[in-house]
Amino acid sequence: MTTRRFPDGFEWGTATAAHQVEGGNWNSDWWEFEHRPGSIVAEPSGDACDQWHRYPDDLRLLADLGFSTYRFSVEWARIEPEEGEFSTAALDHYARVCDTARDLGIQPVVTFHHFTTPRWAAVDGGWADSGIVDRFARYCERTARHLGADRIARACTINEPNIVASMGHMMGVFPPGHTDDAEWDAARANFCAAHRAGVDAIKSQADVPVGMTLSMAEYAAVDGGEEYAAAHQARMEDQFLDACRGDDFFGVQTYSRLRLGPQGMVGPEEGVELLPMGYEYWPWALEATLRHAWNRLDGQVPLLVTENGIGTGDDEQRRAYVQKALEGVLSAIDDGIDVRGYTYWSLLDNFEWIFGYRIHFGLVACDRTTFERTPKPTADWLGDIARTNAIDVA
Ligand code: GCO
Repeated sequence: MTTRRFPDGFEWGTATAAHQVEGGNWNSDWWEFEHRPGSIVAEPSGDACDQWHRYPDDLRLLADLGFSTYRFSVEWARIEPEEGEFSTAALDHYARVCDTARDLGIQPVVTFHHFTTPRWAAVDGGWADSGIVDRFARYCERTARHLGADRIARACTINEPNIVASMGHMMGVFPPGHTDDAEWDAARANFCAAHRAGVDAIKSQADVPVGMTLSMAEYAAVDGGEEYAAAHQARMEDQFLDACRGDDFFGVQTYSRLRLGPQGMVGPEEGVELLPMGYEYWPWALEATLRHAWNRLDGQVPLLVTENGIGTGDDEQRRAYVQKALEGVLSAIDDGIDVRGYTYWSLLDNFEWIFGYRIHFGLVACDRTTFERTPKPTADWLGDIARTNAIDVA
């Protein structure tokens, strides 16, 4: 065993998203999607982890475990419940979340859009209509003005716009539930424009680092699938990376790899373990995606791992996955890639979108009835790594 240190100032955190943990987010497009007759969503989000009320406990827990950042999202559907009507109470709530975090020594990493859109903004085309760009920018401006640079440590404009665009408009498994390639193209372009407008809007009110967070995968071409893989990666990743040039940081979010043949996805490789999410256990993907993001951004934009994790009922498997992923981060850093932090998805077992509550990404379990939080062994293990900024490697 040798002990490997991470660079000084390396940020260690966990992440959540409003709709997945707060509960009662009924004014969002996701809530509506969950309650459609015959919805493909396994169960409604309901009270989630009741973090709306329990955030002080969660922040205390995070601090006690040893983490220094918390990435969470503010909910547009609460902050602007109808077009142009802003809720001071909701904005004050998020100001208190930031203040509570800072009092505990935790830096708030604030995501402005994490999958959910207010119902009023999701109609008339939603993200497939270019009118959303100005609406999003206005919401960013108002929210950044209220929270301010003293509260926000980092701002993420949009979380995984590539997933919202493809799942919502091409595959039909996220709201609005459409399968329309022209809409998919439009949504991608609108998300890229909204990111740029969001960066400007946030920076006009709060001089803080701003970036996008993107869902990435290790792209593996098999049986001559290079051309298809490159075309798919262009739409899923590169278009968005190209919209992030000049940003203060870029958020890499990685869970597994994709195998692509000449005709499309070919699914998991025989002999590789499958996870409950339906994809391969592939912790090596993180290093591959850090390299891809870094190269595509010409080595000019610092990277943060804003999500990495595993949905599993086996906490020992979680520990092994994170160990391998972190070894990949070190290897990228050894090669001169500027990686500034690691954020585990997620702090809590929470609402995993169409899968409902049956998949467990959390470092901390959450009782579905009492909301009681119970840290798993990996929470202490990763908290120690955060505290010491070092990891033992074989
Ligand atoms: C994301 C997702 C999270 C998911 C996580 C696990 O940003 O990827 O936003 O909300 O819960 O990825 O699938």
